[in-house]
Amino acid sequence: MTQSQKNALIVGASRGLGLGLVETFLARGWRVTATQRTPSPDLARLDARSLRVETADIDDDAGVAALHDGLADQRFDLIFVVAGVATRAHDPLHAVPREVAAQVYLTNAVSPIRFAETFLDRLAPGGSVALMSSILGSVSLNDTGDWETYRASKAALNTLARSFEIRHRAEAVSVLILHPGWVRTDMGGAGADIDVATSVTGLADVVTAQLGRPGAHYLDYRGETLPW
Ligand SMILES: NC(=O)c1ccc[n+]([C@@H]2O[C@H](COP(=O)([O-])OP(=O)(O)OC[C@H]3O[C@@H](n4cnc5c(N)ncnc54)[C@H](OP(=O)(O)O)[C@@H]3O)[C@@H](O)[C@H]2O)c1
Repeated sequence: MTQSQKNALIVGASRGLGLGLVETFLARGWRVTATQRTPSPDLARLDARSLRVETADIDDDAGVAALHDGLADQRFDLIFVVAGVATRAHDPLHAVPREVAAQVYLTNAVSPIRFAETFLDRLAPGGSVALMSSILGSVSLNDTGDWETYRASKAALNTLARSFEIRHRAEAVSVLILHPGWVRTDMGGAGADIDVATSVTGLADVVTAQLGRPGAHYLDYRGETLPW
């Protein structure tokens, strides 16, 4: 690694936006550690000397702790938790089994913040923690009501991200809470607005422009500030 080469940890990179972010940061000359839950053929296909692939489930605290220990020699300019789920997102809240709704909350809101807390000591000076939220996490922009459990989980992520930033304000921590657009992935579906390349190019531009900016900032992939 050269002195000036930036270093990113992208969490949840087996496919979709995480995979696209890995490819984009590598193409921009960053060194990248990418995590998968199970072996990802798409990640394995990436042939880059600057790529390291690790395995972790963000819901597994012991696994996250082991990953943290395994990366003890690393300092990251960007720690980006991309992983998320949209289980039974089309069903209204009362139709979703309690344990399913609870799991969506745990994976989308609790686990990313616990991951950030565990890895904060691996953040390089001038770096940022990025969390993949959604415009659906905005309470004030909720005019359609749908995607209830998913919406609530991302609103919870936003709230917990603000609390995380306040807890670490003395360290001037930088927290970027990002909306990638409505993107054609397994989660976004074929009818979504934009492709992965458009989203991840915008997200990488936003991250680069905002890197190290203290505070908690809720931004979309074009750099527009979103209302909470
Ligand atoms: N697509 C959109 O339009 C859109 C819009 C707004 C926000 N987002 C957010 O963007 C993020 C990525 O979405 P996507 O569209 O790329 O979705 P996707 O194609 O369904 O990919 C989801 C990724 O998250 C990983 N993941 C899920 N649970 C995990 C866990 N417990 N531990 C570790 N990794 C886990 C998956 O790994 P496996 O392959 O192992 O399942 C996969 O890599 C999510 O947080 C999503 O909520 C997406």
